[in-house]
Amino acid sequence: MGCNIAIDGPAGAGKSTIAKRVAKELSFIYVDTGAMYRAVALYLLRNEIDGTDAEAVAGNCQSAEVSIRYENGEQVVILNGENVNQYIRTEEVGNMASKTSANPAVRAHLLNLQRNLAAKNDVVMDGRDIGTVVLPDAQVKIYLTASVETRAKRRYDEYLAKGESADLEEIKKDIENRDHQDMTREISPLRQAEDAVLVDSSLMNIDEVVAAILGIYKDKVE
Ligand code: DC
Repeated sequence: MGCNIAIDGPAGAGKSTIAKRVAKELSFIYVDTGAMYRAVALYLLRNEIDGTDAEAVAGNCQSAEVSIRYENGEQVVILNGENVNQYIRTEEVGNMASKTSANPAVRAHLLNLQRNLAAKNDVVMDGRDIGTVVLPDAQVKIYLTASVETRAKRRYDEYLAKGESADLEEIKKDIENRDHQDMTREISPLRQAEDAVLVDSSLMNIDEVVAAILGIYKDKVE
């Protein structure tokens, strides 16, 4: 088994930015599991499957063959042979992923892919259930969170930086809905593993969070 660092937490806590940086510092592979759920969601959207129809979601998700590869250190998500990176970052796909990831068939469909990557490589893997379900034996587990206000403001600033308009209250509502869906679903809900270290990034910048996680890694593994 490779050395495994699991980073879980709610939407907008900065998991992917932080996990990417930590992976780079340690020369580990960064695995973004949310992107895999987004790829399945994209497939279901393209095929006009109703995300609330559990049977239809379960019946169709198997046809979404997801794999990942790395190009210049970036994770590329492949859906049925197509690089879908540029299509999976929309709110529409994110909301569909939040809905459909509650389906046991969708989770089972992606579990082996995630475990195989962690078995063969040193990984920093981020998601919602990495420390609790996917990699319960990970050497390092982090639960990365921040207040709803902080997360909404960060997302809002990202939109503005891209030159897009955004409504802070709308974003906040969206984040609250997503938290609720991710935390209250029956299977693999988002929660802090008992042996995970809580990092609240509300009052920390990226460098400080990266340094904190590298410190936790050094204490546990080195
Ligand atoms: O991290 P993200 O926003 O890209 O994730 C999209 C959705 O996928 C999220 O709302 C919940 C789901 N997800 C999950 O259920 N389990 C994971 N390990 C990662 C993401």
